[in-house]
Amino acid sequence: MCKIARVAAALIRVLYLVAVAAPVKSLLAVAKVAFSLVNAPCLRYMNQAALGRSCTGTFCGDLLVGAMAHSWRMLVQGLTSLMFFCAHADEYVRPPPSPLVLMAHDKPASHPQQVHISVVGANHMRISWVTDDRNAPSVVEYGTSPGKYTASATGNHTTYHYFFYKSGAIHHVTIGPLEPVTTYYYRCGRAGDEFSFRTPPATLPIEFVVIGDLGQTGWTASTLSHIGGGDYDMLLLPGDLSYADTQQPLWDSFGRLVQPLASARPWMVTEGNHEMETLPVVEFAPFAAYNARWRMPHEESGSRSNLYYSFDAAGGAAHVVMLGSYAAFGEGSEQHRWLEADLARVDRRRTPWLLVLLHAPWYNTNQAHQGEGERMRLAMERMLYEARVDVVFAGHVHAYERFTRIYDNEADSRGPMYITIGDGGNREGLALRFIEDHKSAHLSVFREASFGHGRLRIVNETSAVWTWHRNDDEYATVRDEVWLESLAAAKPSLATTTAGRHTDEL
Ligand SMILES: [Fe+2]
Repeated sequence: MCKIARVAAALIRVLYLVAVAAPVKSLLAVAKVAFSLVNAPCLRYMNQAALGRSCTGTFCGDLLVGAMAHSWRMLVQGLTSLMFFCAHADEYVRPPPSPLVLMAHDKPASHPQQVHISVVGANHMRISWVTDDRNAPSVVEYGTSPGKYTASATGNHTTYHYFFYKSGAIHHVTIGPLEPVTTYYYRCGRAGDEFSFRTPPATLPIEFVVIGDLGQTGWTASTLSHIGGGDYDMLLLPGDLSYADTQQPLWDSFGRLVQPLASARPWMVTEGNHEMETLPVVEFAPFAAYNARWRMPHEESGSRSNLYYSFDAAGGAAHVVMLGSYAAFGEGSEQHRWLEADLARVDRRRTPWLLVLLHAPWYNTNQAHQGEGERMRLAMERMLYEARVDVVFAGHVHAYERFTRIYDNEADSRGPMYITIGDGGNREGLALRFIEDHKSAHLSVFREASFGHGRLRIVNETSAVWTWHRNDDEYATVRDEVWLESLAAAKPSLATTTAGRHTDEL
């Protein structure tokens, strides 16, 4: 007992000395080191669990290891957040939240809801929807005239449990082959409403809407209204969709909120931190709701995870790579190997445009989420640079920021242009403060903490125009605009600005 008491006393003394003598920022550094030590193995395990693989060889062992990994991770994350709050409490205050826009469902249980579509391969479309009735058929009837369905396809459905929540049937049906730039009318489950979508073009030009961190607030509704006010071919979303944050009915409400747009144009998404939704002990498999509801065409691009994949657009004139900021990404990881192989397959003579989307930005001068994308940047930036990626879109930071072309923290005409577009809406509000003397400030061309969305119109093999549209304006006014030249063309001057817009670039 005496020995135990002596050890306890020594431990208390050490803790007291650390607490009194060490400055808060040192504690923050210690917490960061601790976090980095446990975070990688925990993420690796969680990724294995998400892929349905065993870690220990037994179910009970997996359950125990999973619970331990998550509990430990939550503890470390909590301590880290506390330290961060202590160190930065006086530096960043979010604006008050906007109320949620909740969308009720008052139709019969077999009535299809939350309809959204996503491209699969060159000429197929996946139709996804939810029915409360788990026995509703997974069938889509479709045709090119309203009410006249000349073809049909059958798929399957999945369900998931989350704590006490039990999802409805989540249906996924792939239809096709489809003609490009053609309007198809369709009905899900032989019941309910008729929807229509337009297929993307098989050649350039093509227009993408890009928006991150969407959520389901009044701000989100404003963004969706602005997006719907103009035409486009496909929507790209670099993570943080519903902000359900473990409240599963909010996933259903989000699906209903975005249905008018997401049932009419393909929505291609990748995951953000708000999709993880782990709970210590009870819910240790991350991305359960996201993977069930937002199935993306990962198998078609050789990826074994729904958390990262790629696809071609405009008949292969554009290749879009969706990376996973919350799947293992280090050298030797499955995602790293997959990205290397995927980029190696891109022939820039046939594919002049190469786009990448991910959640946590690699370059960011906002006070929010500083440095969170750094480990991924160190692991993958060289691959993107050598592949001559044209643009990297990120979310996570609730503001808009456009950088010049960069490689390894220096302006480089052969590097990607970095754009943070995490200003879709959401209940957390805007990230208001940018760091004036940030080491990357001289690379930041335009930055503003306002809600909005972006559009990338690829005009032809060499030219594209990026515009950012702020919600505050009554009409879809362009607040930032830049013309890009494809890096496949490899010309010396790679970006020019429109007269009267903000100055740019190399
Ligand atoms: Fe995020």
